[in-house]
Amino acid sequence: MSVKKHIVTVTMNPAIDLACMVPDFTAGKVNRVTQYQTDAAGKGVNIAVLLRKFDLPVIVTGFLGLENAGIFEKLFTEKGLVDEFVRVPGETRIGIKVLDPGTELTTDINFPGLSPDGDQVEELINKVGQLAECASIVVVAGSLPSGVSPDVVGRLVAVIKNKGAKAVVDTSGPALVSAIKAVPWLVKPNDDELSELVDRPLEDHRDILDEMRNMNRSGIANVAVSLGARGALFTDGEEELLAKPPKIEPVSTVGAGDAMIGGLVAGVALGLSLKERVRLATSLSAATVAHAGPSLERLDVAKDLEEQVIFEAISL
Ligand SMILES: Nc1ncnc2c1ncn2[C@@H]1O[C@H](COP(=O)(O)OP(=O)(O)OP(=O)(O)O)[C@@H](O)[C@H]1O
Ligand SMILES: [Mg+2]
Repeated sequence: MSVKKHIVTVTMNPAIDLACMVPDFTAGKVNRVTQYQTDAAGKGVNIAVLLRKFDLPVIVTGFLGLENAGIFEKLFTEKGLVDEFVRVPGETRIGIKVLDPGTELTTDINFPGLSPDGDQVEELINKVGQLAECASIVVVAGSLPSGVSPDVVGRLVAVIKNKGAKAVVDTSGPALVSAIKAVPWLVKPNDDELSELVDRPLEDHRDILDEMRNMNRSGIANVAVSLGARGALFTDGEEELLAKPPKIEPVSTVGAGDAMIGGLVAGVALGLSLKERVRLATSLSAATVAHAGPSLERLDVAKDLEEQVIFEAISL
C-alpha cells in the first residue's frame, strides 16, 4: 500500500516575475533600472516553495515553456521540489513590474503566455491523477493559460478526489465556478472573487458567511475568504473564525494569498487544529506582505508575528 504523504501543487499558468526599480519612470523616454529581481513564480510554485520551508515533500506540476524553463528548474533544484511539469513549446509568460520609488506607482507589462494544446492538457490531467495516488493534498492554483477551457479545473478536482486526495483550489472567474461544481476540499477566494462567483455584492461579514455556509452545505468542507489587510474568515463546517493580521509595514502584496494557502495546507499536513492553521496562515501572509518578492525567505519572521494574530467575534 502506498503511503499518502506528498503534497502536489498544480500551476497551469506560471510566470517569470521581473521587478525593477526605475526612478522617474517616464513613457517614451530612456529609463534606467537601479535595482531588479527576477523570480520564477506562479501561485502553485509560490505555495510549493513555502511548503518546503516546513520540510514537507512537494511535487510541482503544470505547464512550463521549453524555451525558458531554466530559471524554474534552478529554483526546483535549490528548494528540493520534484519537477513533474509538462513541457510545452514556447516561453512561459514574463511579467514586468516597473516600480517608481518617487511616485510609488507600479507599471505592469504582461507578456502573453503559453497555449498548451488538447494533448498536453490531457497529459497534465493524467499526470495529476497519477501524482494524486500518493498525495495527501493536491493544490490547483492560479489562472488558466489562453485557450484552456475552465472545465479543466473541475476535471482536475474530480481526478484528485477519485484518487482519495484532498483537492484545494485557488482560482477565479469561470475556473472557480468549474472547481466549485466539482466540490473541492478547500477553496480560498478573496471577497471580490466570491462576489463575482455568487453574482451579488457582499456588504458585510454576514453576507460573506452566508455564502461560505452555502458552500459548506454543498459539500465543500473548508472555506476561507480573504479580505486583504482586514484579515480573513474561515470555516470547516463546525467552527467559524475571523482572524485579523498583525499590523505590518506593507512592502508588496504579491503572494499574500499564496502564503495563506501555503499556511493552511502546511497546517493540515502537520495535523494542526483549524485555529492553529488560521494563525499560521495569517502570520505567514502578513510576513509575506512585509517583504519584497513572491515568497518568504525566513519562517522565523512569520513565527514572531503569530502571537499578534487577533481572533475577533464575527459581527452578524
Ligand atoms: N496589508 C496587509 N497587512 C497584513 N496582512 C495582510 C495585508 N494584506 C493581506 N494580508 C494577509 O494576506 C491574506 C490574503 O490577502 P488577500 O485577501 O489580499 O489575498 P488575495 O487577494 O487572494 O491575494 P493574491 O493577489 O495573492 O491572490 C489576508 O487575509 C491577510 O491575512
Ligand atoms: Mg488570490
